[in-house]
Amino acid sequence: MSDKSLFERLGGADTVDSMVTEFYDRVLADPELEPFFKNANLDKLLAMQREFFTAALDGPLPYTGLPLNYAHQDRGIERKHFALFVNHLLETLKDRGVQEDEVGDVIARVNTYITDITGSLGSAG
Ligand code: HEM
Repeated sequence: MSDKSLFERLGGADTVDSMVTEFYDRVLADPELEPFFKNANLDKLLAMQREFFTAALDGPLPYTGLPLNYAHQDRGIERKHFALFVNHLLETLKDRGVQEDEVGDVIARVNTYITDITGSLGSAG
């Protein structure tokens, strides 16, 4: 049962890649989120997101991008934006027919990054 990684349980590299692509299509179609990505390099972002999700789901590739707190600081991303973002991921997984257990596990992992995404690095040490 669960000696498989979450990455494998979701269907491996092809599934995770197409899932990330579909998820980003939804994020970019959301008028509350799209403005954050106006100046983004989307090809690089998607490549980094694939790596990040692969690594975060215990898949076989390391994440080579920026630390998430650094990549998101000073962008004005609030908890409500984070919630919208995660909700698009949830809807993507549900629409793809991912089992409820897996959906719950993925969302729980992603939620652990809320401070990195919405917090500031802080300069007071
Ligand atoms: C758990 C949630 C999130 C994860 C795992 C995540 C992951 C990432 C990753 C891996 C990168 C690439 C870092 C690099 O360039 O090395 C990135 C960049 C970025 N993210 Fe996120 N992100 C999350 C939430 C959000 C949210 C909620 C927003 C905005 C509403 C956002 C906006 C951006 C923007 C604007 C960039 C920079 C793109 C660029 O300039 O090329 N992210 N994110």
